[in-house]
Amino acid sequence: MNVDLVVAGSGFFGLTVAERCAAELGLRVLVLERRGHIGGNAYSEPEPETGIEVHRYGAHLFHTSNERVWEYARRFTAFTGYRHQVYSTFKGRVYPMPINLGTICAYFGRVFSPDEARALIAEQAAEVSDPANLEEKAISLIGRPLYEAFIRGYTAKQWQTDPRELPAEVIARLPVRYTFDNRYFNDTYEGLPVDGYTAWLERMADHPRIEVRLNADFFDVRDEVVGNVPVVFTGPLDRYFGYVHGELGWRTLDFETEVKETGDFQGTAVMNYADEDVPYTRIHEFRHFHPERDWYPSDRTVIMREYSRFAARDDEPYYPINTPADRDRLLAYRRLARGQDGVLFGGRLGTYKYLDMHMAIAGALSMVDNKLRPHFTEGARLV
Ligand code: FAD
Ligand code: NA
Repeated sequence: MNVDLVVAGSGFFGLTVAERCAAELGLRVLVLERRGHIGGNAYSEPEPETGIEVHRYGAHLFHTSNERVWEYARRFTAFTGYRHQVYSTFKGRVYPMPINLGTICAYFGRVFSPDEARALIAEQAAEVSDPANLEEKAISLIGRPLYEAFIRGYTAKQWQTDPRELPAEVIARLPVRYTFDNRYFNDTYEGLPVDGYTAWLERMADHPRIEVRLNADFFDVRDEVVGNVPVVFTGPLDRYFGYVHGELGWRTLDFETEVKETGDFQGTAVMNYADEDVPYTRIHEFRHFHPERDWYPSDRTVIMREYSRFAARDDEPYYPINTPADRDRLLAYRRLARGQDGVLFGGRLGTYKYLDMHMAIAGALSMVDNKLRPHFTEGARLV
C-alpha cells in the first residue's frame, strides 16, 4: 500500500487528522469510509423534493469556545449567524428551554423576579438531599414540579427506563438560568456552515495527497495495513478487538422524515415533547436552521421526528450509555489499544465518548501534535 497513513472513518475526527497530515506534514493519506458518503454523523444532504438541507443522523449545531478550532473550521467554511433555541411542549403548552426565568414564569403562571425564582427553586429542591436515583437527583437540582414537567417524561423516553431506575450520575447538572436568556449554547462562537455540512467536510478532504475510499470497511484490509502503515482508527473500539471483552452499550435514534404541505410547520427549529404519551422526543424542522436561504420553498417544509432506544449491534451507535459494566469493558479495551503499536484510536467510536464536533476536531488536532507529528518528523514510536 503506497501511502504513509491510513485513517479509518471520515467523520470530523478522521478528516481533521487526514487534512493536517496531508497539508502540514506532507503525508499521503488513505481514508477508508464504511458508508457510501463522507462526513460521519455530521453529513447532511438536500431533501430531494424541497432542496431543504437535512441532517441525516440528527440535527447538528456547531458551537465552540476553542479559538484554535474556530480558526481551523473557518478555513473550510463560513458560518451563518444562527443562534440555537429550543422549546418544549408539555400538556398542550409551550415553554422555552433550557429552563430559564421565562420557563418558570410561564409554568407557575406568574411573574417572578430572578431572586424570587431562585428562592422558589431552592425551596422545592430542598425536598431531596441525598439522591439515590436520577429522579431524586433531578428533584434535588430543580425541584419536583419542573422535574415532572420537563425531565421525567423526556428522560423516560430517551432511556426507555423509569427515571427512578436510572443512576443519579446520568445527570451531573441541570442548569437553570435566572434570566430570560434562552440561547441554547453558552459558547463564544456559534453558527451553521453557510453551504452546509457536506460542503465543509468535502473541502477538508479535497487535497491532492488525500484519497477517500467510500464503501470501504477497514476490517477488509486490516491484515495488509496493520504493522505496515500507521493507522488512525475512528470506528468502534469493541469491534476492533472482536468484542473480546463484550459490547460497549449505546443508545441509538430512529428518525422519521416527512415533507409537509405548509411553509412552516412549528415556527422553530427544534420542539421537544416532554409528555410521556407522545412517543417521539422531539421534532426538527430544518428550514429554520437557515432562515437566510430565501430559495427554500414557501409552501413546503421538512420535519423529522426523533425516537430514542437502546442500540443493537447493527444499529447506529449514537450516545454511550456508560454503565459501570461499560466502564470496566472500556478500561479493558484501552489496555488492548495501548498494546497496539502503530494504531491510534480516536473520535467518538474509537474512544467511546460523546464528542461534540468541536471536541472531535480539537481531539484530532491534539493527536496530530502529540503523536503523529513526533512520529513522522522525529521517528517517535506510535502508541
Ligand atoms: P463519526 O462522525 O461517527 O465518524 C466515524 C466514521 O467512521 C463514520 O463515518 C463511520 O461510518 C466510520 N467507520 C466506522 N467503522 C468503520 C470501519 N470499520 N471502516 C471504515 N469506516 C468506519 N455535535 C455538535 O457539535 N453539535 C450537535 O448539535 C451535535 N448533534 C449530534 C446529534 C446526534 C444525534 C449525534 C449522534 C451526534 C451529534 N453531534 C453533535 C456529535 C457529532 O456527530 C460528533 O462530534 C462527530 O460525529 C464526531 O466525529 P467522529 O469522526 O468522531 O465520528
Ligand atoms: Na495504540
